[in-house]
Amino acid sequence: MNTLLRGKDWIETKDWTVEELETMLEVAWDLKRSFALGRPHRLLRDKTLFMMFFEASTRTRNSTEAGMTQLGGHAHDLTPDKLQISHGETPKDTGKVLSRYGHGIAIRNCFYGVGNKYIKEVAHWSSIPVVNLQCDVDHPCQAAADLMTIREKFGTNLKGLKFTVSWTYAPSYARPLSVAQGLIWLLPRFGVDVTLAHPKEFYLMPHTVELAKKFAAENKTKFQIVHDMDEACKDHIVIYPKSWGCHQYLADQNVPEDEKKKVGMDLIARYKSWICDQRRMELAAKEAVYMHPLPADRGSEVTDEVIDGPQSIVFDQAENRLHTVKSIMALTMGGRP
Ligand code: CP
Repeated sequence: MNTLLRGKDWIETKDWTVEELETMLEVAWDLKRSFALGRPHRLLRDKTLFMMFFEASTRTRNSTEAGMTQLGGHAHDLTPDKLQISHGETPKDTGKVLSRYGHGIAIRNCFYGVGNKYIKEVAHWSSIPVVNLQCDVDHPCQAAADLMTIREKFGTNLKGLKFTVSWTYAPSYARPLSVAQGLIWLLPRFGVDVTLAHPKEFYLMPHTVELAKKFAAENKTKFQIVHDMDEACKDHIVIYPKSWGCHQYLADQNVPEDEKKKVGMDLIARYKSWICDQRRMELAAKEAVYMHPLPADRGSEVTDEVIDGPQSIVFDQAENRLHTVKSIMALTMGGRP
């Protein structure tokens, strides 16, 4: 296994080989053990991470900041208004300047068609590693934690595990596509059979689906897309229902910028029946688990009975965000020279 990951960016999981991802998971388990034992693990002593959040966050912000503290370093919690980004400073200048002050840059920017490009632009000009804390294309920290969680529940050999990623109704706001895209990219490389379910307008970015199909073919796993939530749940072992917006459809239909919000929310409202309830969990396999990256729109995406019920593993999933991001930071900002 390649253990020399110092200086490597963490932007899309596809940039890391399966062996490198295995190293990341091994280290995450080691750090989880140390955390459970209260054993100090100050692997990034005196190091600084600059976190730039263009959007709100509970899990990502706090797991990353707490993770830096536990690793002996410090994280700056930054937003565009705290930086000259709000006055138009470029990703190039921001990346070059922050590289002079610290040891890592972590960015969440989920703006459709913008976020991934922004993070890659910062990474191009930075001389320190850049960590993607979610963009419009991938949420690699979430996908890594989800993989760790299903391995804890079902073992390291996931060959043939039937995993459903399903769209759900959520009226509060149009979420990014990147959690679903991150899962369909990562899981086929670890033997998982993925079913992606969504109403026809809620399709993902075509290049992410094409790559998921390629990874599935290369790894002899199954990847299918269906438009019926019941069919997607039937006999599956992991049920992962979460909402996303119809960003790709709106772009393809050339909906004017000022109409996108209304058209998108009206489309979401058409599919209120896409909720994960007990009936749907009963369609799944007997040993099925319910997963969600959180925050969940309770009562719309999922019933309280399911998310608070015995099949739900959402808080184990949320905890693993801490151990995986610590592993990513320890390996890329520290590790062996
Ligand atoms: N799952 C996740 O990324 O949560 P936050 O938006 O709270 O960071």
